[in-house]
Amino acid sequence: MTSQQIRQKFLEFFEKRGHAIVPSSSLLPDDKSVLLTTAGMQQFKPHFIGQADPVHDFGSRNTASIQKCFRTSDIDEVGDESHLTFFEMLGNFSFGGYFKKEAIEYAREFIVKELGLKIDYVSVFEGDSEVPADIESERIWKSLGVHDVRKFGREDNFWGPTGNEGPCGPTTEIYINGVEVWNLVFNEYYCLPDKSLKKLERPGVDTGMGLERLAAAAQGMPTIFETDLFAPIKDALKVLSPGKDLGEREIRHVRIIADHIKGAIFLISDGVVPSNVEAGYVLRRVLRKLIRYAKLLELPGDWFTVIFTEVAEIYGAAYPKLENYRNEILTAIKNEEEKFAKALEKGTKEFEKLAEKAKAAPRDPEHLEISGADAFALFETYGFPLELTGEMAAEKGIAVDEESFRREFKKHQEISRAGTEKKFGGHGLSVEAGELRAATPEELLKVTRLHTATHLLHQALREILGSHVKQMGSDITPERLRFDFAHPQKMTDEEKKRVEDLVNEKIKEDLPVLMEEMNFEEAIKQGALAFFKEKYPERVKVYSAGNFSKEVCGGPHVSRTGEIGKFRIAKEESSSAGVRRIKAMVETIV
Ligand code: GLY
Repeated sequence: MTSQQIRQKFLEFFEKRGHAIVPSSSLLPDDKSVLLTTAGMQQFKPHFIGQADPVHDFGSRNTASIQKCFRTSDIDEVGDESHLTFFEMLGNFSFGGYFKKEAIEYAREFIVKELGLKIDYVSVFEGDSEVPADIESERIWKSLGVHDVRKFGREDNFWGPTGNEGPCGPTTEIYINGVEVWNLVFNEYYCLPDKSLKKLERPGVDTGMGLERLAAAAQGMPTIFETDLFAPIKDALKVLSPGKDLGEREIRHVRIIADHIKGAIFLISDGVVPSNVEAGYVLRRVLRKLIRYAKLLELPGDWFTVIFTEVAEIYGAAYPKLENYRNEILTAIKNEEEKFAKALEKGTKEFEKLAEKAKAAPRDPEHLEISGADAFALFETYGFPLELTGEMAAEKGIAVDEESFRREFKKHQEISRAGTEKKFGGHGLSVEAGELRAATPEELLKVTRLHTATHLLHQALREILGSHVKQMGSDITPERLRFDFAHPQKMTDEEKKRVEDLVNEKIKEDLPVLMEEMNFEEAIKQGALAFFKEKYPERVKVYSAGNFSKEVCGGPHVSRTGEIGKFRIAKEESSSAGVRRIKAMVETIV
């Protein structure tokens, strides 16, 4: 049975039983209390707590979905036989429709009758001082002929909440081949931020079953990595590293690459851009780890293009969007690789020195450690995420002082924030996507001029080449701007000249550059350009240059286009398939 057949069987099974099928939500959740979507129930939080009406939204009190999930909690375990960061979760949900009896009956019927699998045993909540033992679930299981019912406490058989508050309750879990496969949550409570429980007015059902583990059981495979969700990626990686003996260490690396590349691809396809904060940082961590492991396996330069094709193939039927965003995804990975590959080499050398230092002069010979300041220097100079340093150190039996790293990080953030405010009158730098960086006020002035020039260039390209042009990436240094955009072919010399002339015309007109704050939706309605699918906050800043250009942007910009100076395109070249790259400069005004 293929994983696609399992997906279909699952949805059909619940559709037949009165469930509305709801598509997976984005990996970037609406719920701001969590960074990423980690469970199928997240998109239904308002329905569980009575804030939204399921009948109005779905036409039923019961729903089923296959949800893309990303969990960072298990990231260090990835590489063993069962842990993943990216996975799909099959789930059925009820918001006051049915409760324990139907939920357990459905689960048993699906596993045993539909899939023909054998349940090893199940578990239920054993009870504690606050929440009573779940004797009802135990009774239901036994009435269905499942007699091995094990009892566990809060750690194992109590769910939630996601974020710092939300629905929660006791669970009953199904084990096949010794592995937990399906978790049925009975949301009877609302967990408040102080961890106290409040009884929910209407109890709900929230179940989650990992597709990968289920596929391993249904396909009779010893681990998830032999299923059709992974085998083609693993095989392709073997072909890409022909000289390598796949020992235990390499098998672990292959598994990490196979998991992380999926995570990266799905995060990017949901609009996450690598950065140093929040979801962007998770993506950066994953990408940088991938880049390191690809090096260890000696994969060829374009390995991710080959692997992307495998991933798009595996997921094509369920997520056709991946193929549609092929260029965007590959460009994002390539950009990060360009940024990091060189630094990785130098940083690894520096890391080796730090490791030697930790070994040579240990404060405690039982506990070798790289200091927080050293780990921070690796981050600052070579872009090594703390977790990467931690992992490299762990391979040598050395720890990293993470707490003091975080203190260094915070201290540094405060210094740079104070510096920015002092120098630029509280004008925030747009450091979110790592685009505007400057060491001195003079440099900042230059990159600011190039930043406004980038907006004019974007609009000019759209007017001359067509509105299919959209920004795919931007990088500004004091010397030049670099702008990547979707366009199928090389620009002619005439096109380049017309774009350059149009930008210079707008500079000559000395248009005022104005900033206005508004709701994101309103900005889009007014025709403001926004970066490719990035998740924006509800309120955004919109910068416009006269009536010529309008973009959602964090700034800063010059106040009139005349301040930019003369604009010149230095180079137009290919960035990746379907994406062109322009490098341009502005003449210094004296
Ligand atoms: N919300 C149920 C689960 O994720 O297991």
